[in-house]
Amino acid sequence: MFSTGLLALVAILPAFVNAQSPIFGQCGGIGWSGATTCASGSTCTFSNAYYSQCLPSSNGGGGGTTTTPVGTTTKPSGTTTVTTPVTSQTPAAGNPFTGHNIFLTPFYAAEVAAAAANITDATTKAKALSVANIPTFTWFDTVSKVPSLGTYLASASAQGKSSGTPSLVQIIVYDLPDRDCAAAASNGEFSIADNGQANYFNYIDQIVAQIKPFPDVRVVAIIEPDSLANLVTNLSVQKCANAQTTYLACVTYAMQQLSTLSNVFSYLDAGHAGWLGWPANLSPAAQLFTSLYKSAGSPSTVRGLATNVANYNALVAASPDPITQGNNNYDEALYIAALAPLLTSSGFPAHFIVDQGRSGVQNIRQAWGDWCNVKGAGFGTRPTLNTGISAVDAIVWAKPGGECDGTSNSSAARFDFHCALSDADQPAPEAGTWFQEFFTTLVTKANPPL
Ligand SMILES: *[C@@H]1O[C@H](CO)[C@@H](O)[C@H](O)[C@H]1NC(C)=O
Ligand SMILES: *[C@@H]1O[C@H](CO)[C@@H](O)[C@H](O)[C@H]1NC(C)=O
Ligand SMILES: *[C@@H]1O[C@H](CO)[C@@H](O)[C@H](O)[C@H]1NC(C)=O
Repeated sequence: MFSTGLLALVAILPAFVNAQSPIFGQCGGIGWSGATTCASGSTCTFSNAYYSQCLPSSNGGGGGTTTTPVGTTTKPSGTTTVTTPVTSQTPAAGNPFTGHNIFLTPFYAAEVAAAAANITDATTKAKALSVANIPTFTWFDTVSKVPSLGTYLASASAQGKSSGTPSLVQIIVYDLPDRDCAAAASNGEFSIADNGQANYFNYIDQIVAQIKPFPDVRVVAIIEPDSLANLVTNLSVQKCANAQTTYLACVTYAMQQLSTLSNVFSYLDAGHAGWLGWPANLSPAAQLFTSLYKSAGSPSTVRGLATNVANYNALVAASPDPITQGNNNYDEALYIAALAPLLTSSGFPAHFIVDQGRSGVQNIRQAWGDWCNVKGAGFGTRPTLNTGISAVDAIVWAKPGGECDGTSNSSAARFDFHCALSDADQPAPEAGTWFQEFFTTLVTKANPPL
């Protein structure tokens, strides 16, 4: 059913490795073994010892400072494009969060209440309890959890009716077959070899069926954390290469089916600054998102991209963390500023939401790729629509703080070495289960303080 469009998409992906670097791609620097020539219309320009980048020839190069504006908006006339600087506070039209109360997930509230009950220090306990009032996303990471979505929506609908302000429920769609293809900690329940694609389609159908009776509740969905980023950078991993066609078919199906409901707004997951934000990955990422979106029929309810989901980067870092060495896009705002124009020019809606749930403390990792239960992390900026960046619809808490990133038990089937690194909090239980010690640290190190 998807074969023609998807195969065309598959065919373009491996080409990034050997071809000339695309505009804005990397073309040199310490450790770089890829192409050193640039696509026509761009010139390989020295940025620093780690990076030379293909910049449009008219740009004149001169790396170092990033001045790329973010958030292009089109005036009603439809002819003039205005660029808005990073500091703009102009809210973008069509922000799906506007005018809604975000529903508090009862499951997370119960986890937080149980955790707070185990904290003896009165000040810390009170701060911990306050976390139950901060909205997070709910991860539907198994098909068995999907029925609880209907329960949440029923409560959200009732709250909307009694308050007079409609409710918004935040969900994460996360059940791809051969999930987490480049790591081990979050392996899912479905396998491609064992009917995974059909099982996934059924999972999406069940989500749609749960939402359908509640057109009065708005749903914001983040689609499949890590999966598309894995297809941009990790096709050398056999499990990812094998999963490519299935991931594309499944994400296309998710976009199409969710867009049959006019109250659902989707953001595809786009990794983070330290992943797709490297100059060499930006253009391939924009191409992948755009091709996939177009192959799904450019659904109007696909709103944009989610970044930093379950990661630890700042939206705006006070200064570059040393681990970001060489990347001009050293925080999420810079990553978004670099990616947005590529999306806009290729026809993908350049709107974003950014997870800041665990980004309160910076400069605590030993490498940018460290993602597991980072020691010393604190809760970050509260969810808000006042993002300071017109392309960013909302700062959100996508990963419920306190739920574990992955086990540190090296004998466990889902062990990933990142969870036993010296900057990972240990001992850590299985991914998704409660990690009390990690939670209390998030509470005490919250920035701004709770
Ligand atoms: C709280 O403490 C009780 C008793 O020690 C224990 O059974 C329970 O698992 C703890 N809960 C959490 C969330 O740590
Ligand atoms: C996946 O790609 C990222 C980004 O290039 C890289 O850091 C990571 O090591 C890769 N993972 C594997 C298992 O190859
Ligand atoms: C680690 O995992 C192994 C294999 O599942 C299990 O037998 C062992 O009890 C676990 N160790 C700890 C400390 O949880």
